[in-house]
Amino acid sequence: MLFRWPALAATFACLVLAQTSGPLAPSALRVEYLAEPVVDVPQPRFSWVLNHTQRGQTQSAFQVAVSTQPDFRTAVWDSGKLASSQSTHVVYAGKPLESAQTYYWKVRYWDRDGKDSPYSAIASFDTGLLSPADWKGKFIGGANQLRKEFTLPSRPLRARAYIAGLGYYELRINGRKIGDHVLDPGWTTYDKRVLYAAYDVTHALQPGANAVGVLLGQGWYGARAALLQLVVDCEGGQRVRIATDSTWRTAPGPILSDSIYNGETYDARLETPAWDRPGFDDAAWKPSLLVDAPKGILSAQTMPPIRVVDTLVPLKMTCPRPGVYVYDMGQNFSGWVELRVRGPRGAQVKLRHAELLYDDGMLNVENLRTAKATDIYILRGDGAEELYQPRFTYHGFRYVELTGFPGVPKLDTLRGKVVHSDVRPIGGFASSNALLNQLQRNIVWGVASNLESVPTDCNQRNERMGWMADAHLYAETAMLNFDMAAFYTNFLRNIHDIQGSDGTVTDTVPHRYGSRPADPAWGAAYPLIVWYLYQYQGDRRIIEQHYDGVKAWTDYQRSRSQDGILSYSHYGDWVPIEPTPGDLVSTFYYYYSAHLTARMAELLGKTADAAAYRQLSAEIREAFNKKFWRPEFWVYGNGSQTSQILALYLGLAPDGKSGAAMGRLTNDIVYGRNTHLSTGILGAKYVMELLTRADRSDLAYELATQTTYPSWGYMVEHGATTLWELWQEKTGPSMNSHNHPMFGSLGAWFYSALAGINLDPERPGYERIRIQPQPARDLQWAAASLETLRGAVVSSWRRTPDSFHLEVTVPVGSQAQIHLPKGNLDPVLVTESGEVVWRDNAFQPGAPGLAAAWQSDAEVVFEAGSGTYQFDLSAAH
Ligand code: BGC
Repeated sequence: MLFRWPALAATFACLVLAQTSGPLAPSALRVEYLAEPVVDVPQPRFSWVLNHTQRGQTQSAFQVAVSTQPDFRTAVWDSGKLASSQSTHVVYAGKPLESAQTYYWKVRYWDRDGKDSPYSAIASFDTGLLSPADWKGKFIGGANQLRKEFTLPSRPLRARAYIAGLGYYELRINGRKIGDHVLDPGWTTYDKRVLYAAYDVTHALQPGANAVGVLLGQGWYGARAALLQLVVDCEGGQRVRIATDSTWRTAPGPILSDSIYNGETYDARLETPAWDRPGFDDAAWKPSLLVDAPKGILSAQTMPPIRVVDTLVPLKMTCPRPGVYVYDMGQNFSGWVELRVRGPRGAQVKLRHAELLYDDGMLNVENLRTAKATDIYILRGDGAEELYQPRFTYHGFRYVELTGFPGVPKLDTLRGKVVHSDVRPIGGFASSNALLNQLQRNIVWGVASNLESVPTDCNQRNERMGWMADAHLYAETAMLNFDMAAFYTNFLRNIHDIQGSDGTVTDTVPHRYGSRPADPAWGAAYPLIVWYLYQYQGDRRIIEQHYDGVKAWTDYQRSRSQDGILSYSHYGDWVPIEPTPGDLVSTFYYYYSAHLTARMAELLGKTADAAAYRQLSAEIREAFNKKFWRPEFWVYGNGSQTSQILALYLGLAPDGKSGAAMGRLTNDIVYGRNTHLSTGILGAKYVMELLTRADRSDLAYELATQTTYPSWGYMVEHGATTLWELWQEKTGPSMNSHNHPMFGSLGAWFYSALAGINLDPERPGYERIRIQPQPARDLQWAAASLETLRGAVVSSWRRTPDSFHLEVTVPVGSQAQIHLPKGNLDPVLVTESGEVVWRDNAFQPGAPGLAAAWQSDAEVVFEAGSGTYQFDLSAAH
C-alpha cells in the first residue's frame, strides 16, 4: 500500500493547487443591485464579482443557471457557456418569471486562459405580485390596529406576506413583528405609485389557528390604509390565501397620535395584549372599513428599507432645571430614543428632541420651526419596567429633553436609535489630516441621516423634503460611501412619476414644497442622477428608462429659453456668501441637461438626437459666453466665484477665456478672500474638482482644511457633528439646520483627488479606473477603499521626503491607469512589489499585470490589469 502514497500526495497537491491558483468562485451575487431582493421587473439583471488568484485576469465566458428549486433540478434559465466579459447587469433571458416565486441562481466563469471557476454559492431572489390581478384584497382602514384570525390545515411550507401599509405599517403575526423594516414603505407620489414589501413568513405561522395584525401610522400619506395578502402553501399541497377585506377587525389602539414632524403619543394603558395572537377576544372591536385605494400602481420596494441601523449610548445627562433632564447623544442623527421607565399608571413621560442647547443647558428648538418633535409615553404602570420606542415618526437631533419621568432617570434611561435607509456602507476614506477625517465622519453621518427612502434636505424641522438640488449635490458623495444604486433607481422612478406631460419636474420629489417647474438647478437632479448611476454602476438600462424623461426636461427648459439663455430661476446658487446671477446659473444647468441628453442619445445609438442636442449645447454655450462673459474684467456674470466655477467646470469658457477666468477665480479665492470660498451649494459642488483638474489640488486642499469662516472646517471647529445648512454659525428661528448634507459634495473629492480613485467616463462602472492621488501640501498619507459592483477598488499611499509608496487594488476584469506623482524626485526609480518596473526613463517589463508606462514631468503612469500592486517610488541616486 505504501507505494501509493506519492501518487495520492501528488493528487492532493494538485487539488490544493487547483484551489489556490486560478479562477475562484464568483461572489457578491446581486440581482438588481441587491443581495436577496424582491423584484417585479420581467428581466432582472445579475451581477457578480470575479475572483482570481492571478493578476491581470478577466472573464472570457460565464454560465448562469436559474431555477425554482435550490438543487437546480429544472432550469428556468441556463445560459450555457456564453462568451462574454460582462459580469454586471447580465439580463435574465429565461422563461417568463412567475408571480410570487422564489428563484435560485448561481454562476461560474471562465478566465482569460479558458479555465473555469467553481460555481458560486447559491443566491436567490423573489418575484413580487407581477400583475394587478394577483392582488385579491382591498385597502382597509378605520383605525390604526387591524387584525384577522385564520386557520391553516397543516404545516406551512412556504408563506409570503405582501403588504402596502400607508402611511406606515408594522406587520405582526402570532405575537411577533415581521421583519425589521421601520417607517415602511418608502415615500412615493401615492397617486402614481405605492410600494409594497414582501416578507417570508413561513416560520411565523403554525398549523391550526393563526393571527395577523397590522398597525398603521399616517406617515407622508396623511391617512391609514392597508392592503395585505398572505399566501401560504401548506403540507399536503393546500394553498391558503388571506387578504385584507371587511372581515378584518379594527380598534384604535395605544397610538393616540402620530406625525412625522410632531412626534408620537402612546398610551400604554390602551394596549390590548395578545391582540396579534389567535384566540384574542375582539368582540369589542369594529369591523374594518374599506377605504379608498390610493390611485397609484403597486410596485415592489426593490431598495434597502429603512431600519434601525445602530444604537447610541448617551454621552452625558444634565439636569438644568428641577425635573428637566437633558441627554447629549454626542451625534446629530435621525431616529428616536428608546425609553426605559418604571412608574405609576398614567404617568406621562415627555421626550423632546433638538439639535441645539441654550447656554443654560436647556433645549433650543427654535430652528425646528413648527415641528414639535415630541414623543409622549403614558405608562401602563403594572410595576414592571416599560420599554418604549415610537413607531411612526422620526426626529433629527443630538439632544433629548426628558420630563415627567417618575423618579430620577439614569444615563441608561435613554438609548439613541439610528434610523435611515439601510444602504450598505461600501466606502472608506482616511488620511493623515485629522480635520479631514472628522469631515469625512460628519459628511457620512449627514448623508446617511438624510436617506429616508428619498434623499432629504434635512432631518429635523418641518421640511425633510426630497429637494432636488440637495439630492444631486450629495449624490456622488453618497455613492462613494454607500451602496446607493437601488435607492437612486427608486428615486429616479419617483422623479419620473412626478414629471408633467409638458416635461416639467418639481423642486421637491415627491412634490410638497417648492414649485413646478423646478428651478433648473434643482430639476437637474433628473439628468444628473441618471448620469451618475450610469457612471458609477455602468447601468445602461437606467438611461434607456429615463432617456425620454430627461429629454423632455431639456425640451421644457428650451421652451422657456430665449436666444439660448434660460432666465427663470427660483433660488440661484443657494445660501452663498456672494450671490450669482440666477440666469447664469439656470443657463449653466440648461446647458448641462442638453449636454447630458446628447451623451445619453449617443450611448443609445440615437444619432439624430445626439446631433440635435450637441447642436443645442453648442448654441447654449455660445449664448452663455455672449451674455455673461465680460472681457473688460475677465469675468463671467458678476465675477462671483460661482460664476467663474460654472463657466469653467463644463468647459463653457473657450480656450482664450478659460485661463483668464481661472486666474480670476484663484485670485479671488486666495487674495480676495484669504483662501476662502464665497460660493453657495452649487459652486461648492464643482470647485474642488475644477481646481484639481487645473493642477491646483494644493489650493483645493487648503480650502478643504480651512478652519476660519466660511469653511467646512469652521463647522467642525464649532462643534458640528454633521454638515450645516449655512456657512454661518446661526441659531434661532431662521433657516439654519445643523444637519443638511448639501455641502457634502466635498466628500467625493476625498476619494477622487486625495486618495485618487477615479472613474473613466468612457468605460464606466469601474471597468476602467484612474488612480491619481494628490499628495497635496502637508498630507502624509491618504487611503480610500470602495466596494464596487465589480469588486474592491483600493488606493492607499504614504510618503516621506524622498519616497512615495502606493498600494492599489483593481477588481478582476477591470483595468487601471495608475499615476505616481514624482514630486521633486528626478530621476526616479519605481519598484513594484520589490521588482524594478521603471528606470532610466523606461518601463522595465516583468511585473505581472503591468502592461506599459510613460512619464510626464509630474508623474510616472502605469497601465495595470486586475490585482493588488505595491509601488515604491524613490530617488534613483
Ligand atoms: C431647503 C433646501 C432647499 C431650498 C430650496 C430649503 O428650505 O432646506 O435645502 O434646496 O429650500 O430653496
